[in-house]
Amino acid sequence: MCGIVGYIGDQKAVKFLIDGLSKLEYRGYDSAGIAVDCGEEIFIEKAVGRLDALKDKLKDNEPAGVIGIGHTRWATHGRPSDRNAHPHSDCTGNFVVVHNGIIENYMALKEGLISRGHKFLSETDTEVVAHLIEEEYKGDFVAAVRSVLKKIEGSYSLVFMSRKDPDVLICAKQDNPLVVGLGEGENFIASDIPAIISKTRKTYILNDGEIAIVKKNSVEIIDRQGNATDKKIFNVSWNAEAAEKGGYEHFMLKEINEQPKAVRDTMSKRIAKDGSAITMDELNWDEKFLDEINKIYIVACGTAYHAGLVGKFYIEKLARKLVEVDLASEYRYRDPIVDEKTLVMVISQSGETSDTLAALKESKRRGAKTLAITNVVGSSIAREADQVIHTWAGPEIAVASTKAYTTQLILMFMLALYMAQIRKTVSQERERELIDMLKKIPAQISETLSDVDPIKTFARKYGFNEDVFYIGRSLDYSVALEGALKLKEISYIHAEAYASGELKHGTLALIVEGVPVIALATQKSVYEKTLSNIKEVKARDAVVIGIAAAGDTELEKYLDHVIFVPETDELLIPLLTVVPLQLLAYYAAITRGCDVDKPRNLAKSVTVE
Ligand code: F6R
Repeated sequence: MCGIVGYIGDQKAVKFLIDGLSKLEYRGYDSAGIAVDCGEEIFIEKAVGRLDALKDKLKDNEPAGVIGIGHTRWATHGRPSDRNAHPHSDCTGNFVVVHNGIIENYMALKEGLISRGHKFLSETDTEVVAHLIEEEYKGDFVAAVRSVLKKIEGSYSLVFMSRKDPDVLICAKQDNPLVVGLGEGENFIASDIPAIISKTRKTYILNDGEIAIVKKNSVEIIDRQGNATDKKIFNVSWNAEAAEKGGYEHFMLKEINEQPKAVRDTMSKRIAKDGSAITMDELNWDEKFLDEINKIYIVACGTAYHAGLVGKFYIEKLARKLVEVDLASEYRYRDPIVDEKTLVMVISQSGETSDTLAALKESKRRGAKTLAITNVVGSSIAREADQVIHTWAGPEIAVASTKAYTTQLILMFMLALYMAQIRKTVSQERERELIDMLKKIPAQISETLSDVDPIKTFARKYGFNEDVFYIGRSLDYSVALEGALKLKEISYIHAEAYASGELKHGTLALIVEGVPVIALATQKSVYEKTLSNIKEVKARDAVVIGIAAAGDTELEKYLDHVIFVPETDELLIPLLTVVPLQLLAYYAAITRGCDVDKPRNLAKSVTVE
């Protein structure tokens, strides 16, 4: 979850470190720090709070060194404070380290180090690594790092700097991402691509167990035994502007507005030219493969899990295969019934979510066939799965996921239709009809995005309520869950989503005069039932805002406000109904003065358990 950067070259390191950290601040933002080798000593500066606090401290005190490391923290061990901020150093000040992940055996290591006279300054698990390197160093920096790695257990991406070896930075990776960017006479290190794409597109994406020895003019990748690995350069296709705000006030708003393009990119090249079929070049499935699969799991976290719920609906409805959807953090600990006849699909925007990655590994261990749906090419999840299909959403920087969700829905829909094609569970006419409607979705999202004024008004009017309820049936319920999550995470309003039919089994007790209820009513097969549920909450004097398909003349008769989205097939309508919900969350957060892109306590990519 933390962000890591490193620089070695001829320029003042601090420039890249601060710039890189600003691009990674979405990974964690409770404190930040840098260390720069200044010859006589290693200069270290840290500050609790946002990166600006660190920048303030550096204003009149910029180090001149040309090799350095930096970190933006999301606290796990030890509260946010200057002392707990990274980098951490050993007792002599000769070694510094930045870390993302958790050293699981740090308590035992710390006790041993203290008994051998080491003095600890922080409450973090990371500091043990700095003291261990001090103990293991016998004049060979790489050997010392390799010895330390043998002693630590857990997950990490680590960057080490040594004053005794001023021409090198050493990185190590296990279960957390780390990228080396290759420059001319300079090299860069980062936990994530946005930090380096303004500098270079040429990268080495480290695998678990790899160690990178990064010098000004060379990068060598070895394994833990010290053998050179045959590492291929990975060229990043994103452009630098994609990771900038591009005139929008927040990344979240930019990413909401990027959805038509993201969705178009994700579906393009996956539809046959004549519009008659889905082509999934990444997959080579046939009838035999699908027949042999007797169980499908979709496993994910958060928003990606919500996309999985929609995916289940699509696959069951179109391809007639039973699907279970599970939260990755639950799945991996409940001894799931998984074998070689199981297909496990994991969904992850970042491709780095720790629980999702662990669930994938566990599924593979049990013999399952695995498929990853991810946005980040070269991510750990993409590399671990047997097969991968990418959402082409471009970099998603805002903590609250938006375009990743809609592109995940698109892929789930196309995958379900692809499976239906193979299994012949949908007629050709129906398939063509669905593909025709699919192709219209990008323009329909644009249309939905063009009418934000009513949403702004609702947000201003109800943005100070403490509770909001979202209701819906069938696919509307899955979208309601995502709408409620968006509102919670960025505006801190307590929001709950309920399957409308469940209301009278308890929740109706919470519906009192003036409570805002967002009611999704787009699913024709359950429309009448949804309408009765809406009447139930209206009868308790709730303020009900409806989300309906254009042409619905019924809902307006009963409701205070209705937001219409363009008409499409009811299977595809979640791609449209989620848009006003994203905007509602965004403008509610603005109304309340919240930091939209960096909500409290959260970080973009959850690489710790
Ligand atoms: C919410 C959000 C999170 C992520 C979840 C999984 O807006 O972004 O709930 O969806 O942390 O992340 P990925 O998709 O990267 O595995």
